[in-house]
Amino acid sequence: MKKLAGKSLVIVAALTAASASAALQIVPAPRKAVEGEGTFVCTGDVVAQVKFESDTAVPKEGYRLSVAKDGIKIVSSDEAGRFYALETLKQLAAKEGKDGVKVPCVEIEDSPRYSWRGLHLDECRHFFGKETVKSILDLMARYKLNRFHWHLTEDQGWRVDVPGYPDLVKYGAVRSASPRHGEKAYTGTKEDAAKLNGVRYGPYYYTEADLKEIVAYAAARHIQVVPEIELPGHVYAALAAYPQFACCPENLSSREPRLVWGIEKDVLCLGNDEAIKFMENVVDWVCKVFPGDVVHIGGDECPQIRWQSCPKCQARIKKEGLGDHNGLQPWITRHFVKFLADRGKRTLGWDEYLLGDIPKSAMGMSWRESRSGAGHELVSGAAAATRGHDVVMTPCSYCYLDYGQGLGDDPFLYIGGKVTLERCYSFDPCAGVPDDAKSHILGGQGNNWTEYTWNEYDLAWKVWPRMLALSEVFWLGEAKPGFADFKKRAAVQRSWLVSHGVNCAPIE
Ligand code: ACM
Ligand code: ZN
Repeated sequence: MKKLAGKSLVIVAALTAASASAALQIVPAPRKAVEGEGTFVCTGDVVAQVKFESDTAVPKEGYRLSVAKDGIKIVSSDEAGRFYALETLKQLAAKEGKDGVKVPCVEIEDSPRYSWRGLHLDECRHFFGKETVKSILDLMARYKLNRFHWHLTEDQGWRVDVPGYPDLVKYGAVRSASPRHGEKAYTGTKEDAAKLNGVRYGPYYYTEADLKEIVAYAAARHIQVVPEIELPGHVYAALAAYPQFACCPENLSSREPRLVWGIEKDVLCLGNDEAIKFMENVVDWVCKVFPGDVVHIGGDECPQIRWQSCPKCQARIKKEGLGDHNGLQPWITRHFVKFLADRGKRTLGWDEYLLGDIPKSAMGMSWRESRSGAGHELVSGAAAATRGHDVVMTPCSYCYLDYGQGLGDDPFLYIGGKVTLERCYSFDPCAGVPDDAKSHILGGQGNNWTEYTWNEYDLAWKVWPRMLALSEVFWLGEAKPGFADFKKRAAVQRSWLVSHGVNCAPIE
């Protein structure tokens, strides 16, 4: 028996690789834990009985948690660390029975490997609403995730009511029909048009007050909301409201978002100063509503075909000396990187937007793993980090939660692909990144694209338990204890999730 800091704790196991004990069924596993003998028992609110201390030596977002028979102590250097210690405590505390709440005696020292531990939600293809978003934020906090990437504008829907632009939601937030449940309709062909359900979808959107409510709810859980306003592609819903901002306004005569899924060819006319002023006004408003330091401007999958024959775009290329249409997207990216920097924000975008001469201050979100996507050359996350960009790793074959999960029996529809729970757990955000560029890898994120995700039950099934695995990857990095160990703890978490009304998929 060994005494720890004068307390009568028995070292059962240091919880590092593959050694989770029966009592510590928590996710993500703590970095270091030494179990003691016995339990702390109390009636009523456990948190109210915690003694808090501050120590600047504790890493950012990290904490030390001591549970002894006679009391609980939390030491941290910041509010986030204190918050995560309490989340750990909540997972440790057994349900209150007739003897009160029981917490196993333990000494934990914990801190995250990555500063960006994200979850993304596309509310444009399908809309989930404030209550679902809040419940996602609650679960993100439980599993120590700290970035909510909110995909709010798309070809198929515009979901924010921007003051001064009422037509954005009048035209952009409602579809007259969507692909029928179980049908994969991507193109505007007659065959795909026949797969539409004829049911009006929307109008669905958030007001400024709604957005501020969510931002505050997230902040109380140490989660930063990262808004995404897509440009210059994936803007068809905005163009439905303001066709004059397209290269070919006549293509927008129906005045409604794209009804089928897939990438729209009509994009923002970058030769039109009014179109750029419109986007500036939207982004300026976004900067005021979302206090975080990062704004995502999309940049993925932007076809250039309209720019090639648009006189205004061609005039811009000439005036700015951009060479040809390939120079337009880097030009608008540079423009918004500066526009956002002038407002104290960093710019984030999907990896396509890193192509060309882009300032190092621009952050990348790496999702593609091969050369593909609207003719854009691949800039891999490793290449971007090597060039000096900060990067969030979200490679589709590990982090796309709209990909199939390989379950024996699964009632839900997926976009394709296969990302099993074990595959998520095997993710290493720094894989393939040279050592001297690893400091640019901020972390990772699970992405929920929602073409085939209709409601909160479907969404929860796709997110959980895979997001449990990713949360452990983002928190522990290479110190994760291993899949077999994780699976046991994930099963305990699944019971908790299901008992709290979350439609968590089986652990397989
Ligand atoms: C993406 O999946 N188009 C970023
Ligand atoms: Zn144009």
